Amino acid sequence: MRKLTAQTDEENKIAEKALERLRQFQGFNEQTDSLLVKLIAEKHLSISYWSASSQRVKDQTKLDIEVRENLGILDWIQIKKSSQGQGLGKSLYHAAEKFFRNYNCKLIELTPSGEGKTEFWSKLGFNPKPKGSVIYEKILV
Ligand SMILES: CC(C)(COP(=O)(O)OP(=O)(O)OC[C@H]1O[C@@H](n2cnc3c(N)ncnc32)[C@H](O)[C@@H]1OP(=O)(O)O)[C@@H](O)C(=O)NCCC(=O)NCCS
Repeated sequence: MRKLTAQTDEENKIAEKALERLRQFQGFNEQTDSLLVKLIAEKHLSISYWSASSQRVKDQTKLDIEVRENLGILDWIQIKKSSQGQGLGKSLYHAAEKFFRNYNCKLIELTPSGEGKTEFWSKLGFNPKPKGSVIYEKILV
């Protein structure tokens, strides 16, 4: 990896699980991509994955997720502009969903942003929570 930040044994174990899932993402490049794992509290972890030389590069592929107890939160997902529309968004989402399932999440929440994005999420099984809310959810069964 370009950069792998996981400081404690627990964070390293989480990083291993995340990498297992990221390897299933079609756009993953083990040599050049980066991963940051933070255990914020006992049952609160956060993971950032990015493909460019820095997290601050705007046009790149990125994923930011959190697990809080049994809740999975997808803070941000982004596919590099030139690679959009080829199924990579769906593939990266599925890698995140599998990771959430590994950590026994029962629900995934996110806030869609940008026009047309709600369709991307409804295709992946998300619904507004409750009806009309800006937060979308998917119950994992
Ligand atoms: C949203 C995003 C991640 C989708 O990634 P992508 O790789 O282009 O999407 P995919 O090619 O995997 O598309 C999956 C499905 O969603 C549909 N879809 C994707 N973007 C869509 C959009 N803006 N509007 C409607 N449908 C969309 C595709 O047509 C495809 O449908 P299919 O499964 O029936 O073929 C990407 O557009 C992106 O990075 N946008 C900028 C960042 C952003 O807005 N992130 C979302 C934050 S909530």
